[in-house]
Amino acid sequence: MAVRAIEAVGINKWFGESEPRTHAVKDVNFEANFGEIVYVVGPSGSGKTTMLSMISGILRPNSGTVKIEGTEIWNMSADALADFRLHKIGFVFQDYHLFPRLTTAENVAIPLVLQRRDWDESLAEARRDLEVVGLRDRAQLPPVKLSGGEQQRVAIARAIISRPDIMIFDEPTASLDGETGRNIVQFVREHLLSDKRCIVIVTHDSRIYEFADRILRMEDGRMTGVERSQLNAQ
Ligand SMILES: Nc1ncnc2c1ncn2[C@@H]1O[C@H](COP(=O)(O)OP(=O)(O)O)[C@@H](O)[C@H]1O
Ligand SMILES: [Mg+2]
Repeated sequence: MAVRAIEAVGINKWFGESEPRTHAVKDVNFEANFGEIVYVVGPSGSGKTTMLSMISGILRPNSGTVKIEGTEIWNMSADALADFRLHKIGFVFQDYHLFPRLTTAENVAIPLVLQRRDWDESLAEARRDLEVVGLRDRAQLPPVKLSGGEQQRVAIARAIISRPDIMIFDEPTASLDGETGRNIVQFVREHLLSDKRCIVIVTHDSRIYEFADRILRMEDGRMTGVERSQLNAQ
């Protein structure tokens, strides 16, 4: 049987040392296959970011298992997991996480530089993906000179630059105008999705729903349902 891109079983996350602790993610099962774009929608505070962080190797679950391409990621050493993430996973943080002292192009190039790719080649590829997100003319500026929407696009370019198998985006269009957001997600769907890739997007943005194969809903820490299960079925 073909291996799944992502398979999380029974994951839980609590925050806080003393009672009452926050049970942010409750016994969530989540699967995503190669060749599909899966959205997760739901109200603010329902656990979407926490769930994404656990399936992408950023935040360790209190219980449950997460397999990426068949490998149980939370059994790896910290170094092995960091290396696995670097090569397999592109992640767009809801709050961007750009490096203030680097230029826009350098921020985008980071994953390639960490993969020990040639510096000039990495910057050339960074400029290519800045073009994709419409920021070619911002390559030399530091993030502080960019608007929120521009910083969000830099974060998207950085997540896709190494063309990882798994791309995970946390509200990637929240700061973008409708047309810009649609153009970027449409580019991702048409040019980056393949039968060897899997894309997970948390969003509130109904303007981009048409680019999803499946839409799942989270509420109060639980996966509560399927909003849509087939491409472009309304
Ligand atoms: N680092 C943290 N420390 C304490 N509580 C947190 C932390 N991160 C998230 N939470 C809490 O967990 C719940 C889910 O948050 P989150 O996953 O960010 O939801 P969403 O992304 O759906 O808005 C919220 O009640 C939030 O306040
Ligand atoms: Mg969130």
